[in-house]
Formats: sequence, structure tokens, C-alpha cells
Amino acid sequence: MENADRTRGLLGWIDRRWPIISFLRGELVDYPQPRNLNYWWSFGFLSGTALLVLIVSGVFLAMHYTPHADFAFASVQRIVRDVPYGWLIRPLHAHAASLFFAVVYIHTFRGLYYGSYKAPREVLWSLGVALLALMIPTAFMGYVLPWGQMSYWAATVVTSMVTAVPVVGEDVVAYIRGGYEVGNPTLARFYALHFFLPFVIAAVAAAHVWALHAQRSNNPLGIEVQDSRDVIPFHPFFTIQDMLALAGFLLVLAGFVFFAPDLLTPAENFQPADPLSTPHLIVPEWYLLPFYAMLKAIPFKILGIVAMLGAILVLFAMPWLDRSPVRSARFRPIYRVLFWILVADCVLLAYAGTQPAEGVPLLLARIGTAYYFAHFLVLVPAIAVFERPRALPQSISAAIMERRASRRRRSHA
Ligand code: HEM
Repeated sequence: MENADRTRGLLGWIDRRWPIISFLRGELVDYPQPRNLNYWWSFGFLSGTALLVLIVSGVFLAMHYTPHADFAFASVQRIVRDVPYGWLIRPLHAHAASLFFAVVYIHTFRGLYYGSYKAPREVLWSLGVALLALMIPTAFMGYVLPWGQMSYWAATVVTSMVTAVPVVGEDVVAYIRGGYEVGNPTLARFYALHFFLPFVIAAVAAAHVWALHAQRSNNPLGIEVQDSRDVIPFHPFFTIQDMLALAGFLLVLAGFVFFAPDLLTPAENFQPADPLSTPHLIVPEWYLLPFYAMLKAIPFKILGIVAMLGAILVLFAMPWLDRSPVRSARFRPIYRVLFWILVADCVLLAYAGTQPAEGVPLLLARIGTAYYFAHFLVLVPAIAVFERPRALPQSISAAIMERRASRRRRSHA
């Protein structure tokens, strides 16, 4: 009621009947945030922004795109050449998809570094992993829609993976493709799902933020908020921080869209799909490369698929695999090193994903895949037992005062 009393005029009248203004004020303006949040805490907001850009630009693309195997390629060319602002909307959509993955990956690694997956945020974390699991097929189906050579062959390679499933594999592939080959029915269903899934992602993202607001944010120290000295209101402190992060994000997006609009389009995709001519090397977008490397690393197709799916599934288990009582890697000397090795391992896998499955790249893909699973299933549970974490500060405000005092001491010395 106190909030409703603060809103006057027409909005106050509405708020007393439908307390939307009070709700938004409570969740976005007065919402208490740990005072030590850094810029890594803006990446959730940036993920939401990228999703919004994708949905809006996607709806405009859908107005001019033709989801038919005979016309899809030409309709995309028409969008870029003839449709007003099509030259802007198409690269905006493609680069926003790429940046969406970039910011979500950073957001996920931030969670891994600061232990944001630990109790009481397990559901929040699991909803995040579900988002990642939904983003991957959505992006893949989007890649197929321009119906160029790479689109067609990526669809062929990925759908044929399912044939490895014993007994039902062949039937399931025919069901997914809508026939025995990738063709018009495949394109039509991929288009329908590519249009629909972003709205599912938006709904799960809303549930994710709801779960966040129920448990409140973790922070770089990974310790609980003790009292009102540890928190500050979301507005203006974090609205300004998020706006600065947004400016950086938009600059990067604009840089790609205006200066390198075709950077992400492989040369093969400038040619229409041709079922009779297979490209020399079939590669997915950069953000799927580590998963692709895992698929290629394992000689048995079915195990390769299990590894790819397992790479995501293992993230769901992270809150239960890591039993250390300390959240933030700042206070965990061994976990911190392992975290950076994991980052390097993912980069290595991405590199291996760009190479043919033979010789040294194949060996690197195998080592990278084995290490990825060893990190989560062996090293993380084991070090929780042996590691001696550094002493935690008493409270967030005490840590800030201590840092200020030591800075003052250094500047006087
Ligand atoms: C569509 C994709 C996503 C959106 C829109 C989104 C949105 C957000 C937002 C707005 C926040 C609060 C700000 C912040 O802490 O950065 C947040 C927090 C969080 N997200 Fe996400 N997120 C997404 C994907 C993910 C993924 C893939 C994961 C993990 C696998 C994840 C895990 C978390 C966690 C653990 C927090 C709490 C962080 C903390 O308080 O330390 N999110 N998310």
C-alpha cells in the first residue's frame, strides 16, 4: 500500500486497482541489490536485450521470408537487396544471434566462477541451463532457413545423427525431415519451430528472472547479505551500470552490422542448396563448435551424440557435484585454476570443431572432450574435499570498508 500511495494521478488510480506500478517499483527500482556487484552482473540484462532484438528483427524478417525450398534462398537475397532496410535487418538478426550466445556464455561462466549455481539458487541455475538447451536448436534451425549450401548440408549432417539411435533412429529421422531426404517439409517445420521457440525462451527467461528475484543475486564475494548496509537500490545504481553495458553491447553489434555484415556467412552459403554437391568441410556457427568437436571426437556416432547432450546435462548437476561450502572462486585457489583451464579447454574444443576429424585436431578434440567431463565429474567433486579456501570476509560492507582502508594506506605510504 505504501508503494501505491507514492503513485499519484491516473497511474495511482490504476495501481490501486491493479498494482502493476507498485510491483515494477518493488522489482526494478527499490529492489535491494548487493552493493558490490560488478559489470559481470550486467550480462543477464544483456542476454535479455539480445533476445528482444532477435524477436523484433525476426518478426520483420518473417514478413518477407518465404519458407519454401524453391524460394527461400531467393527471398533472403530479396530481403537484403530490395526490401526497405532489409540490408540492416538481416545482419542485425544474424549478429544479434551470435552476440546472444557470446553474452549467455559469459553469463554462464560468470555463474560458474562466482558459484551462483549453489544453494539456494539451484532452480534459477537449472532454468538457465534449460535456456541454453533451448537456444541451441533454435539457432541451428535459423541457420538452415537461408537454404544455402551450408544450411542444407548442416541440416543433413545434424538430422542424420539421429540414425545412430538403435531400432527407432531411421524412423525418427524421417519424421523430423518429413521425408527420406532434407527437403521442403524439413524447411517448413524448421521455420515453424524457429518462429515458435524464441517465445518459449522468453517465457523460460521470465521464470528465470522470477526465480532470481525470489532468491536475490549472489555477489562477487559469494557471501550472504547480512543487513541493510550490504545493499543499495537497483535504481539508479544498477540501471546506470546496465545502461553503460548496453551502450558497449550496441556499439559492438553496430560494428559488426555496419562494418562486417557478412562476416558470419560462410562462402558456401552464398550458393543455393544443392543436394548433389557436398561442401568440402561442413562447419556450424562458432557457438556450436565445441559441441561439434565432441561429436567428431568419439568414433561411435551414438556415443558422440550422448557426449554432446551430456555436455549440457552435466551443467544441470553442477549444484550437486560441487560440495564446497564456499561459493566464489576468489576464495578457492584450486577451483579458480580449474575454472580457467575449463575456459581454455572450451576454446581448444572450438578450434578442433573447425578442423577435419583427423590427425592432431582429432587428438585435441578427444583430449578436450575427456577433460571437459573430467572437470565436472571428477575434479570439481574431488577438490571440494581437499581444497583449503581462504578466509571469507565478515560481510559485504566490511569487505568494502577494508578495501577502501587498504587503498588509503597505500596512497599515504
Ligand atoms: C536467455 C538467456 C538468459 C537470460 C535472458 C538471463 C537473464 C538473467 C538476468 C536478467 C539475471 C540477473 C542479472 C545477472 O545476474 O546477470 C540472471 C541471473 C542469473 N542467471 Fe541468467 N539468463 C539467461 C541464461 C542463463 C544461463 C544459460 C545460465 C546458466 C547456465 C544462467 C544462470 C544465471 C544465474 C545463476 C543467475 C544468478 C546470478 C547471481 O546472482 O550471481 N542464466 N539471468
